[in-house]
Amino acid sequence: MVHLVAKGTVLWLYMVWSWGNIKRVLKQGTVFIRQEGKTMSILVTGGAGYIGSHTAIELLEANEDVIIVDNLQNGHKGAVKGGKFYQCDLRDEAFPDSIFGENEIEEVIHFAADSLVGESVQDPLKYYNNNMVSTLRLLGKIKEYGVKRLVYSSTTATYGEPENIPILETDGTVPTNPYGETKLAVEKALKWVDVAYGIKYVFLRYFNAAGAHISGEIGEDHRPETHLIPIVLEAALGKRNSVEIYGDDYETPDGSCIRDYIHVTDLAVAHILALKSLREGSGSKIYNLGNGKGFSVKEVVRIAREVTGVNIKETIAPRRAGDPAVLVASSEKIRSELKWEPKYDDLAVIIDTAW
Ligand code: UFG
Repeated sequence: MVHLVAKGTVLWLYMVWSWGNIKRVLKQGTVFIRQEGKTMSILVTGGAGYIGSHTAIELLEANEDVIIVDNLQNGHKGAVKGGKFYQCDLRDEAFPDSIFGENEIEEVIHFAADSLVGESVQDPLKYYNNNMVSTLRLLGKIKEYGVKRLVYSSTTATYGEPENIPILETDGTVPTNPYGETKLAVEKALKWVDVAYGIKYVFLRYFNAAGAHISGEIGEDHRPETHLIPIVLEAALGKRNSVEIYGDDYETPDGSCIRDYIHVTDLAVAHILALKSLREGSGSKIYNLGNGKGFSVKEVVRIAREVTGVNIKETIAPRRAGDPAVLVASSEKIRSELKWEPKYDDLAVIIDTAW
């Protein structure tokens, strides 16, 4: 009898406590009722893609609860190494409620996007549609379900032709291609979303992501491949006759374009630091992510020859539309504010992990 009364009292106290929580959430104007005690998850959109899958691995290693959504247009199911996986497109009508409704999503890292500079010039509507429409749809649901923290995958392509080298976060943003334009448009929307709804963000403006996970289990796998380092390695493997160098008449020492290559795991770790800073209440921020060192296309081919031991052939081809001559980051801000430190800042090591 005493046992039953005790059980009843515990149940009654629990109901009073739960109702208190429900009322608190309703009072805050959120339609979604958070159930205390449920696991809080991080939604990773595009988590089966190149940078997304490497970030998901770092999150899983940090014991975070990860929900991955990817339409597998560019991503690969085999790159999902844990967490809960949903195959769907952010633009699908059914998308939000099935994912936000079934999970307690506390934070979002938004990678899902098209990201090829050259392709965006050929097919801008594809970029406006995927990068903007799907993000606006996601943001609507983030607001509706009361998510307050977002890490957004942005790009150096937001700067266009740089004002200064290395590029600072405070430099002007005048994109030279639709890819950069759509990413910048979303950044601008997010600033107002923060003002109106208090959704805090970190924009990470990546320079050239490269390399592969040290385990060798995942890496870069775009189909078709358009990125320089995997193309150079395909030439080393004999899958291509040569590497085409897109333009040798830029105003750079050897005439080919200069880029700042950053290892994908160093990029991934920056997302964890960004989330941590949001959790600590640091407020919305923008950070560049690069190594601060520029390498020309010809230098990349030369270093890849040393790494692979193969005499990779190169040919000169016309310039590719939308390519700025030089893009090199200043990452001083993220180094000093979030204590981010790249582990793989040697291009030969980066290429070796990809090889
Ligand atoms: N390049 C060649 N030959 C090739 C492939 C590339 O010469 O076969 C050149 C490009 O013209 C460019 C450089 O190598 O000058 C790097 O090109 P990638 O295609 O590897 O990368 P991008 O610089 O065009 O773009 C990448 C990402 C973008 C991101 C950008 C940031 O794809 O999403 O880095 O700098 F915005």
